[in-house]
Amino acid sequence: MSRRLHDAFDITAFRPLAHAWVDQVCDYLQRAQTDPALPVLDQQPPRRLLDDLPRITREPTQQALEIAQKVMDASTHVHHPRYVGHQVATTAPLTALTEMLNAVLNNGMAVYEMGQLQTAMELRVVEWMTSALGLGAEASGMLTSGGSLGNLTALAAARTRAQAGTGTGERLAILVSDQAHYCLSRAGRLLGFEPDAVIAVTSDDRFQLRSAAVERSVAATRARGLRPMALVANACTTATGTFDPIDELADCCEAHELWLHVDGAHGASYCVSPTARDHLRGIERADSIVWDAHKMMLMPALITGVLFRRAEDLAAAFQQDASYLFVSDDDERGFDLGQRTVECTKRAMGVTAYVTLSTLGVDTIVDHLEHGLTLARHLARRVEEAEDFELATPPFANIVCFRHRHPGLDNESLDRHQADLRARLVASGRFFLVQTALRGRLYLRCTFVNPHTTCDDIDTLLESLREVAAGR
Ligand SMILES: Cc1ncc(COP(=O)(O)O)c(C=O)c1O
Repeated sequence: MSRRLHDAFDITAFRPLAHAWVDQVCDYLQRAQTDPALPVLDQQPPRRLLDDLPRITREPTQQALEIAQKVMDASTHVHHPRYVGHQVATTAPLTALTEMLNAVLNNGMAVYEMGQLQTAMELRVVEWMTSALGLGAEASGMLTSGGSLGNLTALAAARTRAQAGTGTGERLAILVSDQAHYCLSRAGRLLGFEPDAVIAVTSDDRFQLRSAAVERSVAATRARGLRPMALVANACTTATGTFDPIDELADCCEAHELWLHVDGAHGASYCVSPTARDHLRGIERADSIVWDAHKMMLMPALITGVLFRRAEDLAAAFQQDASYLFVSDDDERGFDLGQRTVECTKRAMGVTAYVTLSTLGVDTIVDHLEHGLTLARHLARRVEEAEDFELATPPFANIVCFRHRHPGLDNESLDRHQADLRARLVASGRFFLVQTALRGRLYLRCTFVNPHTTCDDIDTLLESLREVAAGR
C-alpha cells in the first residue's frame, strides 16, 4: 500500500480529526440555534464563491477542518430560528451520527446480503409508514432518493397496471392538479407521455382540486381519444400547503378506474398529527403515496417512502432478472430491495429513519408538526389582523403565503415590491424566506420547519418587512 493510501485509512490520525470535527459541528449548531447576530445566510455572488474555491489537484492542498468551517459559514443556516424558507428539515443532530455510520459501513442495499440489518430497518420504517396511513395488510413500499424519484416510481407502477388491462396502441394520460409539483409533469415526460398527455386540471379558489373539475377533464381527455389512467392528488401543494380532498377524489377515481396517486411529499407526515390528520381523510384509499421524511420529520435529505396499497403493483413494475446480483431464493427475494426501486446501490436511508423514529419516538415528530402548525396559524392571524399585509389563502399546513400591501401600486409594481422586499430582507441576513407566484401574482412564502422558531420571531418578521418597505 502506498504511504498516502495508508495515511488515508490511518485511524490514529482519523480519531482526533473526527473528534475535532464533531466539536466544530456542535459549536456551529449551538451558534445557529442561539446567536441572533448570526445572519441566516451570508449571501455571496455565485461567481465569487466559485472563483475563490481552489481547483482540485493531484496533491492534497487543504485541511478537512478548514473546509468544514468554510462550508458551514457559507451555508443557509436551517437551524437558525429565523430560517422560514424552503421545505427542508431542520435536522435532528442525532441524524448526523447515523449519516456517519452509513458512510463508514457503506452497505449498498440493492441486495439483502449487502445490508442485512439495514434492509430490516427499511422494512420496519415502511411498515410503520403504511400502517400510519392506514393502507392495510396488503400494502408495501420502499424508500427511495427523494419525492421526485418517488413520484416517477409510483407513476411507472400505475402505467404498468394500466397497460396490463388493455391492448396496445392506446394513448394513456395522467391528470394532475395545476398546483402539482413540477416533478410530476417531468415524471410523465420521462415515462414517455407526450406533454399533452399530462393534463393539468384547474384547481379552485383555495387551490384545491375538486372532483367536478376532474370529471370534466376525464370527459375532455376521452373526447381527444386518450385514456386517463391516473390522477395525482396533492397532500399538500408545494406553493400554498393546500390539501386536495382525497376522499372525494378517491370516489371519482373509482368511478373512472383511475389509479389514485397521492403526492404527500410534504404533508403525508400529518397522518400522525392530532390536529391535521383530517386533511388526509381518504388517503388509505390511494393506490400509491409518496412521503418525504426529509421534509417534516427532522431527517436529512433524501429519505422518501413510496408506498403501495397492493404489494403486487410494486413487484409488477420492477421485477427483473440480474444473475450477477439477485441470487436469493424465493424466500429471501422480498429482502432484495433493489428489485423494487429505480436505484440499484442506495444509501442506507432506512437506518437514519429507523434510528430517528425509534430513539426520538414518533411523539417527538408529532410535537414538531404541531409546533409548525401553531406558527403558521399565528402568522396567518397576524397577517389577517394587519392592514398592510394580506393572506393568499388560509393555511392548512406549515406553509403560509402572504404579501405586503402598498397603496397606489398597480399589480405588476406590487409583484416587484414583494420580490424586492424578500431580496432585501434575505440580503440583510435577518430572515430567510422565499416567494412564489400564485395565479400570476407574486407572494412571500414561509415554511415553518424549525423547532426553535417562535411566535415572537414571526412578529419580528412582519416588523422587519415593514422596516425594509419603509427603507430602513
Ligand atoms: C409536493 C411535492 N412533491 C414533490 C416534491 C419533490 O420532492 P424532492 O425534492 O424530495 O425530490 C416536493 C418538493 O418540494 C413537493 O413539495
